Amino acid sequence: MSANTDPDHRWIAICMGTGCTSSASPEVGDALVEELKSQGLDEEIEVRRTGCFGFCEQGPIMVVYPDETFYTRVSPRQVKSIVESHLVGGEPVEKLLYKDPGSADRIEKWHEIGFYRKQQRILLGNCGVIDPENIDHYLARDGYAALDKVLSEMTPEQVIDEVTAARLRGRGGAGFPAGVKWGFARKTQDWPKYVICNADEGDPGAFMDRSVLEGDPHSVIEGMIIAGYAIGAQSGYLYCRAEYPLAIQRLGIALDQARQHGLLGEDILGSGFSYDIIIKEGAGAFVCGEETALMASIEGERGQPRPRPPYPAVAGLWDQPSNVNNVKTYAYVPRVIMNGAEWFKSLGTESSPGTAVFALTGMVNRTGLIEVPMGITLREIIYDVGGGIPNNRQFKAIQTGGPLGGCLPEAYLDIPVDFDSLQKAGAVMGSGGMVIADETTCMVEFAKFFMRFTCDESCGKCPPCRIGSIRMLEILERITEGEGKQSDLEEIRWLAEGMQRGSLCALGQLAPQPVISTLQHFEAEYRAHIEDRRCPAGKCTALINFTIVAELCTGCMVCARNCASNAITGNKKEPHVIDPDLCERCGLCAEVCNFDAVLITSPR
Ligand SMILES: Cc1cc2nc3c(=O)[nH]c(=O)nc-3n(C[C@H](O)[C@H](O)[C@H](O)COP(=O)(O)O)c2cc1C
Ligand code: SF4
Ligand code: SF4
Ligand code: SF4
Repeated sequence: MSANTDPDHRWIAICMGTGCTSSASPEVGDALVEELKSQGLDEEIEVRRTGCFGFCEQGPIMVVYPDETFYTRVSPRQVKSIVESHLVGGEPVEKLLYKDPGSADRIEKWHEIGFYRKQQRILLGNCGVIDPENIDHYLARDGYAALDKVLSEMTPEQVIDEVTAARLRGRGGAGFPAGVKWGFARKTQDWPKYVICNADEGDPGAFMDRSVLEGDPHSVIEGMIIAGYAIGAQSGYLYCRAEYPLAIQRLGIALDQARQHGLLGEDILGSGFSYDIIIKEGAGAFVCGEETALMASIEGERGQPRPRPPYPAVAGLWDQPSNVNNVKTYAYVPRVIMNGAEWFKSLGTESSPGTAVFALTGMVNRTGLIEVPMGITLREIIYDVGGGIPNNRQFKAIQTGGPLGGCLPEAYLDIPVDFDSLQKAGAVMGSGGMVIADETTCMVEFAKFFMRFTCDESCGKCPPCRIGSIRMLEILERITEGEGKQSDLEEIRWLAEGMQRGSLCALGQLAPQPVISTLQHFEAEYRAHIEDRRCPAGKCTALINFTIVAELCTGCMVCARNCASNAITGNKKEPHVIDPDLCERCGLCAEVCNFDAVLITSPR
């Protein structure tokens, strides 16, 4: 099927990203095709299986074009009513339109939903629009035009100059300028050279790269071919974790289509430049995202980091000059080449041009994948895009950059979000994970979660990381169990310094950051655990008790029915009581009580 670009063309996009697929979007798509056929509309209305819209919690998502009507949580059974009421009758199905939490109004068009209003979808511009398995859709949106331009009009040096002038910074974490890195690899006079795409994406909760690969694989491939031409490589490796089967499948399809169109392989577009890309599946270890470990893994070795220098640009894969970039970095390249460095610099901030893609999650009303201009404030992300904190609770902190990132309290909500200002504040862009904590989050518990991840994922090569992270986790566990010592905070700081200084790779060097940043901003909370045996957020089970306030309890019995430990007793319409010896402190009674009658007290 070719891509119809007529603005009046009627078509329906159904998300086939991992999120929507797991909530039955393929069945919704099949039902839609069937229904259109039975109504005789299948010739007139196209059904397009697209990539992710980012708003996965609302899936399966369906958008009717050209009117842009946004349907959420569509089930196969509801397809008939959409076809009959909307497509035949011209009347959108009200109850399937998006409704903001706490608001009575349904919102019809997808760009009018708060979640999308402040977004600027450039990198994700094709996700949710094109069928990623159909190269014609990509070609119809100027796909491979940048490659054509590069091969027919530009020298490799000009390509590198353009990417450098755009100040495109790598989106894998550290934000190193892509053009400068390409320049280093070009300069090394040794062949063969390799282009490597880092699609390991091991941060818990992050799925930015996966979405780009699933929804717009050709843009990554095109960026990698351009990088190959620029540095003088003939092969590229796309290292993607095996837990991303859909991304790998779509990449395979896209690579085949690119080969069939003469965009990969021998003598690309008759330019004399030959280049091909191999997919390498990673086994899913976080450390394999570190570039030297990644290359060891491609070589068939155990994925462990090695010292740098030499940097990959000098001696990388099989000791040959190599260029490693993140998925998003490559995907920006065709856009930079087509629209020019000045266009790219007009977006975002002076030192961090362009947009940033985040996975917004945690205690926030609207969660999902977002693309926003660099320079937007944290407050705008949390309150305008994310819709604020659920249940009118108080915001407490935001963790950016995943397990190697940092955490910022309310005082930082108005800082602009870009590589440098986040770093200055003690957090980082990292890969783009953003977790919101509200007043009910215990910051010591929060830090413990990230440290446990580091302990599991440390490759064990160097003692400061291997042993330091375990010792730090033990201290955090002790504190949350009410066994903390006065000396613990000093010991945490001492261990952190040792890990930062003595670890070989950034995993060990940055792992203490979530702990150190929570300690910096929430030291009083740590001290309450240690000195008063008290958890101010009421979360650490060893330090809290659940009791029922007799005056508020209506005796509805809901809590007793939900308590798996049979710790709650009482007659109907009479105040209930919790037996502290039987109570497991799971917190369910407080959650289900509609009368706020369950009180959490700390210390016990
Ligand atoms: C423990 C660890 C994990 C990493 N994981 C990733 C990853 O999943 N994806 C990624 O692009 N970069 C990751 N990085 C950063 C890479 O080592 C490298 O800097 C990056 O791929 C370079 O690409 P960029 O310049 O486009 O950002 C990781 C680094 C460390 C230390
Ligand atoms: S810092 Fe940690 S992950 Fe990195 S090489 Fe050392 S032990 Fe391995
Ligand atoms: S759910 Fe609340 S009101 Fe109902 S019995 Fe339990 S404590 Fe009382
Ligand atoms: S906290 Fe859990 S175990 Fe304890 S009384 Fe409530 S529901 Fe039962």
